[in-house]
Amino acid sequence: MIKKCLFPAAGYGTRFLPATKATPKEMLPILTKPLIQYGVEEALEAGITTMAIVTGRGKRAIEDHFDISYELEHQIKGGSKENLLTEIRSLITKCTFSYTRQIEMRGLGDAILTGETLIGKEPFAVLLADDLCSNQTEGILSQMIEVYEKYQCSVVAIEEVPRDQTDKYGVIAGNLVDNTDDTYRVTDMVEKPDPKDAPTNMAIIGRYILTPDIFDILRDTKPGKGGEMQITDALLEQAKQGNVIAYTFKGKRFDCGSVDGFVEATNYFYKKGI
Ligand code: G1P
Repeated sequence: MIKKCLFPAAGYGTRFLPATKATPKEMLPILTKPLIQYGVEEALEAGITTMAIVTGRGKRAIEDHFDISYELEHQIKGGSKENLLTEIRSLITKCTFSYTRQIEMRGLGDAILTGETLIGKEPFAVLLADDLCSNQTEGILSQMIEVYEKYQCSVVAIEEVPRDQTDKYGVIAGNLVDNTDDTYRVTDMVEKPDPKDAPTNMAIIGRYILTPDIFDILRDTKPGKGGEMQITDALLEQAKQGNVIAYTFKGKRFDCGSVDGFVEATNYFYKKGI
């Protein structure tokens, strides 16, 4: 059973300045819902009710969002706008939220290691809220938990990207283990390789199921690409033992860390009616 989802949410979101000067990037809305709320909904749909959020300075709005706003509730009570809070109220009732702060931005690996105190010694999900995922039926994390239950090791979600974009992602190589063509046993992974050095064009997107031994591995992981501690490097250690599965998820994913992806997601959810 995967009971906890970790949300690394300490990054600055510099690609969205000035919007992210005083607002966490995870709070930028696609239509009327902040990105991180979509993430929490995806985790809840996968049966996860404990949300562990790694924040940083200037991120208090995230905590306030997943809490009751008495003054606001009082103001709109009984009025036509009250139903706009139904969804978020229901999330707050069903989930618990815990927070810890990453003091310095030292990479995704360091952010995940910072979350150890909220996770403990159990397998857990990681969701990067700026990769917004949508599927008509089963959500991406829910699909990944099924894969985890079958293989009992770490799982990363992947999709094929154009060759010239491998330097934006962790990239894997692996051997097919399932003849439905969607599951690979990972043999290699590289963080943001130049297209000429990339082993494949299969890119990791912001969804992971990790086994808790990842924390000890992270403690020994040296700074990698960009001088930051990379989760990709720690996962490679697990992969060397045959303990990482890459899963080609079903559904759509929008890179909401980029303006283009953000606009694409906005149009998609507008047409879909959220
Ligand atoms: C991070 C990871 C990268 C992964 C990506 C998915 O990069 O380091 O391996 O492919 O998330 O979104 P970031 O987008 O934070 O630079």
